[in-house]
Amino acid sequence: MISNKPKGTRDFLPKDTLINQIVEQLLRQTAETFSFREIRTPIFEHTEVFERSSGESSDIVNKEMYTFLDKGGRSISLRPEGTAGVVRSFVENKMYVETDFPVRLYYCGPNFRYERPQAGRYRQFSQFGLENIGIRSPFIDAENIFLAVDMLASVGITDIKLKINSIGDKESRNNYKEALKEYFKPYLNELCEDCKVRYEKNPLRILDCKVDANHECMKGYPAIKDYLSKDSKDYFAKVLDQLDLLNIEYEIDDKLVRGLDYYNDVVFEIEAIAPSGTNYGAILGGGRYDELVEQFGGPSLPAFGFGIGLDRVVEVVKELHVMDEYKDYLTCYVMPREETSIEYGFFVTNFLRSNGVDCDMDYQARSIKSQFKTVDRKNALYSIIVGEDEAKTQQVSVRKNATKEQVTIPLNALMTYLREDINSSKCECGCHHDDEEHECCCGHHHEGEEHECCCEREHDSKEHKCDCNEEGCCCNHKEN
Ligand code: HAM
Repeated sequence: MISNKPKGTRDFLPKDTLINQIVEQLLRQTAETFSFREIRTPIFEHTEVFERSSGESSDIVNKEMYTFLDKGGRSISLRPEGTAGVVRSFVENKMYVETDFPVRLYYCGPNFRYERPQAGRYRQFSQFGLENIGIRSPFIDAENIFLAVDMLASVGITDIKLKINSIGDKESRNNYKEALKEYFKPYLNELCEDCKVRYEKNPLRILDCKVDANHECMKGYPAIKDYLSKDSKDYFAKVLDQLDLLNIEYEIDDKLVRGLDYYNDVVFEIEAIAPSGTNYGAILGGGRYDELVEQFGGPSLPAFGFGIGLDRVVEVVKELHVMDEYKDYLTCYVMPREETSIEYGFFVTNFLRSNGVDCDMDYQARSIKSQFKTVDRKNALYSIIVGEDEAKTQQVSVRKNATKEQVTIPLNALMTYLREDINSSKCECGCHHDDEEHECCCGHHHEGEEHECCCEREHDSKEHKCDCNEEGCCCNHKEN
């Protein structure tokens, strides 16, 4: 019985998924701010969808796809990337009848490539992708590159290197391919078998060969910039002008050609400088693809998009510790004092849950000491302690775990108590902090010894009796 996961895949245990969820949520928020809406397409497609689009000459399609015949004998492939499926869906669902171009779509989910696993490279990995279909304009390209930078900043990644290039229109690329053929001809016998095929099918792909990457011929090959048509050159210059105006730093990398066949003109990738020095490669990449919609049988509609490698982004975010403040927590943990109180505890737990409060309880009537250990492990904000006395009087003892303050109140006052208490200690930044020293973005130390109240008096919160009588005073006029 095999009990280990396939090579290149990973299990995300609950402690690992929290950061992934936060990253995804922040990316969603930024994408929606830019008016993108989510599309969900199948994880597998007819193999032809990828062969026709991502490219017969690309390694991703040729060597890395998980392809199989289904029980009906159809060739099916797990998606190696998201763009092809999105464009297939765009055409199949006639989304082009909308004339509010660009149609902006985002998606998030797993992709599969049979690659050699290493740091940041997996056989199952997740991408957050964005596509803009319908407009060819340098403003769209620049805006999306700005968005890519902005999305990374939203998750705390600012130390980045943006590489950009133009691979030109069809005419430019055809001229360039001829020049590459001419250049590589004398070396052909020394190149790998795959490169010999690439030479015939698409010599551009020789440039991203991993086997021949260190061959001397890889140093001096012609640069695409010398083969760009006037239209492509002008277009690229306009995109760069807009990036300058947006204050986005970039490096023109005339070796950047991307590993998928559908691109034309502007292509880009972003690398992150990880504190450990680990090279995760590009954490996102994309570019313009003006012919793909038509290739799928749709109208001639240009497009631009990019895909963020979520696994790599999360690795970098972890290294930067920018999300350490986000802690998993539970709002309430119900603690029956004895076996006979479990039933009342169960009732209280259900009462809290039906009021939308996340909650768990002890079902075994363990010692209170053991239950408090669970409270710590679960990072519960409140312990709701119930015993026979509370059951008789329909009360609950609520312990605020951060301060250890405890009050006994009627059950029907519990929700009001929790709402008011949570609101008074909640930081406006929206996250939960139980950090003693947390400095809230409102400027106050909420739980610190030296809490600065809006009554403008310096005081020790433990002894403070606020007398400002002002409504909305941040100390809530709590008396000790
Ligand atoms: P891609 O460059 O092949 O582009 O992939 C986008 C990102 O996915 C990469 O920059 C990388 O961060 C991540 N990635 C790729 N392969 C792996 C892997 N094996 N393990 C972990 N992460 C990986 C595309 O897929 C295009 N569909 C992007 C695009 C969208 N172009 C236009 N629209």
